[in-house]
Formats: sequence, structure tokens, C-alpha cells
Amino acid sequence: MTELKVNDVHYAYGGARALNGVSLEVNDGSVVALLGSNGAGKTTTAKLIAGALTPSKGSVLYNNETVSGLPVHQVMRRGIVLVPEGRQIFAQMSIHENLVMGAYKENDRGRIAELLEQRYETFPRLAERRNQLAGSLSGGEQQMLAIARGLMGEPRLLILDEPSLGIMPKLVQQIFELINYIAASGVSILLIEQNARASLEVASYAYVLEKGRIIMEGASSTMLDDAFVQNAYLGADEDEELEERL
Ligand SMILES: Nc1ncnc2c1ncn2[C@@H]1O[C@H](COP(=O)(O)OP(=O)(O)OP(=O)(O)O)[C@@H](O)[C@H]1O
Ligand SMILES: [Mg+2]
Repeated sequence: MTELKVNDVHYAYGGARALNGVSLEVNDGSVVALLGSNGAGKTTTAKLIAGALTPSKGSVLYNNETVSGLPVHQVMRRGIVLVPEGRQIFAQMSIHENLVMGAYKENDRGRIAELLEQRYETFPRLAERRNQLAGSLSGGEQQMLAIARGLMGEPRLLILDEPSLGIMPKLVQQIFELINYIAASGVSILLIEQNARASLEVASYAYVLEKGRIIMEGASSTMLDDAFVQNAYLGADEDEELEERL
């Protein structure tokens, strides 16, 4: 069943057009990748879905209900949580406090404690350091914290905006394993990435966004074999050679 339906959304920052009619869908329980180069409009699309921006034209439907125009907290209540680009954790707060902030829809202390325990089980590194300032974590660990905080909101659909950006290769692999793990727990994922190969390996379907338009979409397996995608986003053989040398 279609869970998320983005319908021909347009958006401009002042006079600068960022999205010129973007449509995409995420089905229940699936992982969908949204690829595209810098400035393509990926983050803008994520913000429009999460309620941080309102489309000037078009709409966002979640479980057949229009959510575009609703404020972020109401979109979150319906089950959509965005883990923003650049993580945006609270560096001056402890890991524990950052996680508690994510449990925005819970007032029940017992339930929050339960959610925290689940996170600490999944993320032992965070459990060990729960009382340290979040700013003391490495970039990769901060990304784990940002994802863990997103999960505290008990999403049905998690939007991850460039979770592997600026993270060392060893941790990147862990992040993709984590994405698989979250998907296996039944949470749908819209994965925004520049690491096209790894994203296409976890996603079942993918869209390519360029200059505010979807220029291509299809099953991930088809995309991986596509000559255009290989040239433009997979960097074909060079990456593999580089990986072998590293
Ligand atoms: N706050 C803003 N004010 C003005 N223009 C903006 C703003 N945010 C984004 N833009 C512009 O909108 C376009 C789309 O930006 P967006 O951040 O959505 O791209 P992106 O695909 O997420 O890029 P990246 O891969 O670099 O994160 C770009 O041309 C960008 O310069
Ligand atoms: Mg972006």
C-alpha cells in the first residue's frame, strides 16, 4: 500500500526555484532512495515532507491524508520523522538528554525509559557514554545519535538526509547496516544519499532528482545496471579501484 505520496510539489526560496514539480511515493515497509547531486533539491524535498516547509504548489499525502501545510510536530505525530542533514544534535547536552528530546510525543516517563532502553540496546556506544556531552562524540557517533533520537519519536516513516556524509568509511558501513536493521523492524525509510551504490543496495526503489525535477526512477536493481546512473552517480570503476587500494 502507498504510505507516502508526494504530488507535484513546487518550492522556491524567495525568487530562486528549488523544486519544479516533484512526485514520489513510498510504500508501506519499503526503503526508497532519493539520489541527486549537490543542490538538486533533496533536502528541500525532505523538509516539504516533514512539514518544515510548505509547497507553493502540489501536496504531500500520508496514509491518504494531506499533511502539507501542517506544522512539523503534527506531521511527526502522524508518524513521519526527519533526521536532518548535518545531524543537528545538541552538542552542549548529554547523549541521554538528546535522546529524551526525541521522545516528543511521549509524556509517560515509564514509556520514555522503555524507549531509551531499546535505543541503548541497539547502540551500545551511546549507552556507554550516555552522560557525556553529545559534542564529544565523533562525527559517525553523532550520526548514530541523530538516528537514535529520530527513532525515539517512534516513526512509521523515517527520512534520513545524507546519513553517511562526512563519515569515515568504516562507520559508513555500520550506518548502512543500521538502516537495514531499522527497515527490518518495519519502519519505512526515505533515504537521501550521495553514496548511490550503498543506497541502491538497501533500497528497493529509487528516484533521481536533478535541478528540482525527478529525471529518473525505477527498481534499484535496474538502476544499478543502468549506464547513465553508473556514469553520473556510481563513478563506475574508479570507486572500486579506490576501495581496493584503501
Ligand atoms: N535557505 C535557502 N535559501 C535560499 N536558497 C536555498 C536555501 N536552501 C536551499 N537553497 C537552494 O535550493 C536548491 C536546492 O537545495 P537543497 O538543499 O534542497 O539541495 P540538496 O539536493 O539537498 O543539496 P546537497 O546535496 O548539497 O545537500 C539549491 O539551489 C540551493 O542553493
Ligand atoms: Mg541536502
